[in-house]
Amino acid sequence: MKEIITRRSTRKYERKPVSDDQIQQLLKAAMYAPSAGNEQPWHFVVVRDRKMLDEITRHHPYAQMLKQAPLAIVPCCDTGTVKYEGMFWVQGISAAIQNILLQAEHLGLGTCWCGVYPRQELVDKISQILHLPPDIIPVAVVAAGYPGEKVEMPDRFLPERIHYDKW
Ligand SMILES: Cc1cc2nc3c(=O)[nH]c(=O)nc-3n(C[C@H](O)[C@H](O)[C@H](O)COP(=O)(O)O)c2cc1C
Repeated sequence: MKEIITRRSTRKYERKPVSDDQIQQLLKAAMYAPSAGNEQPWHFVVVRDRKMLDEITRHHPYAQMLKQAPLAIVPCCDTGTVKYEGMFWVQGISAAIQNILLQAEHLGLGTCWCGVYPRQELVDKISQILHLPPDIIPVAVVAAGYPGEKVEMPDRFLPERIHYDKW
């Protein structure tokens, strides 16, 4: 799948909006991700309001690309749906986020995964801005939009990181 190799984080965006249909495709890709016991612990907050996007940049120092990006998707965990001890939900939500990034690449959109959880100060701020209920944890802010830059992918394949049968 070529999108795995061509995807890079995008930190410069065109102002052009992302369509409702494209957003739907990103969220559909997210919801087809694997999760522990098929718990599907996710909710997604779609942020397009310019004031809200700017507000996020005032509190997330590493999400400044949202000053340009027309869209952010905030994948959240509904802790009420989690089935297992040990926070497997982090892996499920992360798989959903990666699906969003790859689907976006497929659609010609750029993205940047900006971490939120487990930084408590970011969790608190994003929860406050988005009016999240207490049992909902924001895991990341995914900026998305038409890329205003083209970043090439360097060769990352490292055969020395692969171990067969034992280390
Ligand atoms: C958990 C996680 C948190 C990240 N947080 C940020 C962030 O806050 N701001 C940002 O600009 N990039 C963030 N990134 C993107 C990484 O910097 C980026 O994936 C990495 O440098 C590799 O580059 P690439 O995405 O172009 O392959 C994050 C990525 C992950 C997986």
